[in-house]
Amino acid sequence: MLKVENLVKSYRTVHGTVQAVKKVSFEVGTGEIVTLLGPSGCGKTTILRCVAGLERPDSGTISIDGEPVFSDSARRYVPTHARPIAMVFQSYAIWPHMTVAENVAYPLTVGRNKPNKREIADRVAHALELVRIPELAQRSATLLSGGQQQRVAVARALIRKAKLILFDEPLSNLDAKLREEMRIEFKELFSREAVSALYVTHDLLEALVLSHRVVVMNSGNIAQSGSPRDVYSHPRDEFMADFMGAGNVIEGKVAGESNGFIQVDVGFGTLSSASNGQSFSKGQSVIVAIRPEAITLSGDVGLLSFPCRVLTDAFLGTGMEYLIALQEHRLRVRMPPTAAAFDIDDEAFINIRPESCVVLQRLN
Ligand SMILES: Nc1ncnc2c1ncn2[C@@H]1O[C@H](COP(=O)(O)OP(=O)(O)OP(=O)(O)O)[C@@H](O)[C@H]1O
Ligand SMILES: [Mg+2]
Repeated sequence: MLKVENLVKSYRTVHGTVQAVKKVSFEVGTGEIVTLLGPSGCGKTTILRCVAGLERPDSGTISIDGEPVFSDSARRYVPTHARPIAMVFQSYAIWPHMTVAENVAYPLTVGRNKPNKREIADRVAHALELVRIPELAQRSATLLSGGQQQRVAVARALIRKAKLILFDEPLSNLDAKLREEMRIEFKELFSREAVSALYVTHDLLEALVLSHRVVVMNSGNIAQSGSPRDVYSHPRDEFMADFMGAGNVIEGKVAGESNGFIQVDVGFGTLSSASNGQSFSKGQSVIVAIRPEAITLSGDVGLLSFPCRVLTDAFLGTGMEYLIALQEHRLRVRMPPTAAAFDIDDEAFINIRPESCVVLQRLN
């Protein structure tokens, strides 16, 4: 539905040129939700605005449903209103002088081929049904909560049956609980309506929950893309491991390989770790990324366990998190609520599950 190839966009400012997007290519299939995920300033909004036609790229091509809407080589630039898209932004962009129903109906009342009144009313009712606020139809749009306003914005985006919907951090103004509810609701709605969307967020969980595919950005480049499970479980490098919340990173040198696991010397011993499909040479400097839940804290010494000391404990509701000291390293350990409890300054042992560790190349 969307094809972006070699997209480059820079901004000229008084301080010089900012390379916001550096040769980015990706696609969104029909009925697919693709998220652009990444830290602030990595270029997510810029890409979205280029797709929407609100920014003119320096070079590259953008096609929507097979139709080029931008191409520097073919000198083609289709203006925003002529692109088959709908947009939902962080600020809801709801018109305050209209009712909810009028806001939702608006895209159908402009341009050519306006449906008749009866059809508009039916489609508005259906769209409000989809976002589960049918009872608010006649309410003035200013008298809504943030979550309700965002539902209106989504209904308005759905009503035109645009080929592609662009979302820019639509949930980031909502409180944590509402965000959690809305993202799972969005997911159900998108799949039921077979929406094709490009969805921008800096929230990892939102991206993992909502998308079929995640494109992770870092300073204008794609750091990695793949299914949520893939990018989460197999981060390609240190940036990705950090962004995916690896929790613990330990530097070491490759000592060898056995049974499909890489052995890494890390000072306090040797860690066995999944290779992540990459190959490493002996002696190579690497980092090992270890999730807090991949480490078990125990009062007894076992095979391949390392002695440590408990620095802090924290109750998480769903379990316990400990900060432990292992020589000069401080590691985060997360344990299920049923596990034995430890106190500050307890001497204990940790065991690290090799299949839950990932060896990564060091970035310079
Ligand atoms: N109109 C502009 N003029 C100059 N520089 C800009 C402009 N818009 C964005 N930039 C710069 O381009 C880079 C990418 O910005 P962009 O808004 O795409 O980031 P983002 O990933 O959406 O970030 P955030 O998560 O904070 O919204 C940043 O360095 C930003 O400062
Ligand atoms: Mg942005």
